Amino acid sequence: MNKLSKDLRADGEIRKRVQALRKLYIPRPEFNKLDVCFQKHIEQRRADEADGEAFRARGLMLVGQSGSGKTTAIRELIRKHSTLITTDSSLEFCEYIGLQVPSPATMKFVGAATLRALGYPYSGNKQGPAIWDQVKVQLKLRGTKFLGFDEAQDLARYQTDKERQSVVNTLKSLMENSVWPVGLVLSGMPDLKHIVNQDAQLARRLDPVEIGRLHSIRDVGPVIKIVKKYAARGRMDTDESVQSEAFAMRLMHAADYQFGLLAEIIVLAVSHALFSEGGDATLEMSHFSDVYAERNGADDWMNIFIADDYGRIDPKRLLDNDSDDGVNE
Ligand SMILES: Nc1ncnc2c1ncn2[C@@H]1O[C@H](COP(=O)(O)OP(=O)(O)OP(=O)(O)O)[C@@H](O)[C@H]1O
Ligand SMILES: [Mg+2]
Repeated sequence: MNKLSKDLRADGEIRKRVQALRKLYIPRPEFNKLDVCFQKHIEQRRADEADGEAFRARGLMLVGQSGSGKTTAIRELIRKHSTLITTDSSLEFCEYIGLQVPSPATMKFVGAATLRALGYPYSGNKQGPAIWDQVKVQLKLRGTKFLGFDEAQDLARYQTDKERQSVVNTLKSLMENSVWPVGLVLSGMPDLKHIVNQDAQLARRLDPVEIGRLHSIRDVGPVIKIVKKYAARGRMDTDESVQSEAFAMRLMHAADYQFGLLAEIIVLAVSHALFSEGGDATLEMSHFSDVYAERNGADDWMNIFIADDYGRIDPKRLLDNDSDDGVNE
């Protein structure tokens, strides 16, 4: 084999390892609750249907900060239950359909987006209530029992109280529909709680799950284990510099204590090590500081993986390294 084909083969091998990293899903404690609740709702629905009972659907509300891992958790939830319910929206009969709340989230826009997600050719000249009537017809025709809205906090953004009430009423009417009740799976930022809590009846029908922030001391051990797990997935060894408590604390701070962001930074660091040093690389702190510098445009003194007093650096501020007051305000 000549050098070029050897190199190409090595590249392909590295790419495979990086793909495997991206696919790794780390279960969170919150995921169990989501899982148990969803399974319970599916079983309840099956039992009610077997009894021929009219009923009110129940659903889920998943909240967390940006980057906590909400979208990923819902995707994993649906994947996991795809043996119990049909989830392939290209098929005529699809028990779960999910979509992202469009912007601006007027009732008309959201209704139209829902119709489109249901595969209905929407003509665009109907008013909000008529669109939602159409949505209800389509939900029944497609056999859709669960409807997912991601970024659901946007349902209340820039809305008057009256509009917000109409959002809540529409969501409730989907769940209380005596012809074809649908369980909502709402996911979004913590503001979503305010929309749902605005109405006690809606709140009672949704099981709440919250993805919390990582804890800078309690989560040190689990974070070190997760780093090792990703390195093992990339078939790499880990240097001492990424096994210490101090490193885990820096990493959590860099991820703004959000689990999803933490996973994302580790994936980037492991991928960077593999691409820059090849299959025999050992994962070390410098891979994290390189990735951080690239992502945040930070000089060393603003790099959470390098600066001594990293606690003063706000991980949410990007490309802010040219002022000398980069201190948290
Ligand atoms: N349990 C997990 N295991 C592995 N990676 C995860 C996990 N949860 C999230 N991630 C990764 O974290 C990143 C952010 O996750 P995600 O997009 O789900 O967050 P989010 O809460 O929906 O954020 P946003 O509010 O910005 O939409 C993604 O790159 C995703 O792959
Ligand atoms: Mg998301």
